[in-house]
Amino acid sequence: MAVSVSQVATWKQRQGASPLVVLTAWDVMSGQIADQAGADIVLVGDSLAMVALGYDTTLPLTLEDMLICAKASRRGVQRALLVVDLPFLSYQPSLEETIRSAGRILKESAAQAVKIEGGHAAVVERVQALVQWGIPVMGHVGLTPQSVNQFGGFRKQGKTEAEADRILAEAQDLEQAGAFSLVLEHIPADLARKISNTLTIPTIGIGAGPHCTGQVLVTADVLGLSPWQPPFAKAYANLRQQAIDAAQQFCDEVRSGQYPG
Ligand code: KIV
Repeated sequence: MAVSVSQVATWKQRQGASPLVVLTAWDVMSGQIADQAGADIVLVGDSLAMVALGYDTTLPLTLEDMLICAKASRRGVQRALLVVDLPFLSYQPSLEETIRSAGRILKESAAQAVKIEGGHAAVVERVQALVQWGIPVMGHVGLTPQSVNQFGGFRKQGKTEAEADRILAEAQDLEQAGAFSLVLEHIPADLARKISNTLTIPTIGIGAGPHCTGQVLVTADVLGLSPWQPPFAKAYANLRQQAIDAAQQFCDEVRSGQYPG
C-alpha cells in the first residue's frame, strides 16, 4: 500500500514501527531503485544539483529544473511517499511565491509534499501558510545546504550551546507550524536525540547519529556512484567503478573487433 503523509506524521505513535527510511531520487531510474528497494519516502532533494547536474552547490537549481526531475522521479515511484525540495529562490521572495512554487510542484509532478530548508521566523511563516493551503511540508534544520555561503562550507552545525538551542527552538517552531516530519542534517547525535525526544513528528537524520526516527541518504552515495561523499555517508556498493569498468570493456571490445563479433 502507498505511504501517506498522515502515516509518516504519526510514525512515532505506531507500536513497533521500524525506523523510517528515506532515499533520494533525481530521475526515473533512481526513483525506481529507491522505491523498489523499499524506501518509505523518496525525496527529490535539491542535492540533485550536485549529484545529477554537476554544480558545486545546490544554489543554481531552478524550479523548472526541479520540476523536470520531480516528474521523471514520479514515473519511477509507486509505493513510497514522494517529497520534493523547494529550490533556492523559489520560496524566499514572498509568501505568494512560496505557495505558487509548492503548488506547482504538487500540481505538475504529483508529489505529495514539499521540503523547505531552515527554521527562522520567515520559514516558519511559510510552512504555516503552505499547510493552511493543504500542502504538506517536511522541514529541514541543522546543515541546510542552501545556506552554505553563510556557513562557510558544508560544516557540522549545532556544536555550541547557543547554536544547539537555536536549532532545537527552530525544530519546535516548525512542528508547531504544521510540518509533518523534520530532516536533521549534520548535527551532533546528542542534539538530534534531544530534538527527537522533544518532537511528536518524526525526525529523519543524515549525519545526525542513531537516535532519529529514521535515516536519509543520497542514493548516489549509497550506490557508490558519487566521485565524492560526505563523511557521514555509507556506500553499500561501488557502482561508479563497476560502470567505468563495463564501459571501458565495451570501448576495448569495439576497438579490438570483439564486439559485435
Ligand atoms: O537535497 C537532499 O538530498 C536533501 C537530503 C540530503 C536530506 O536535502
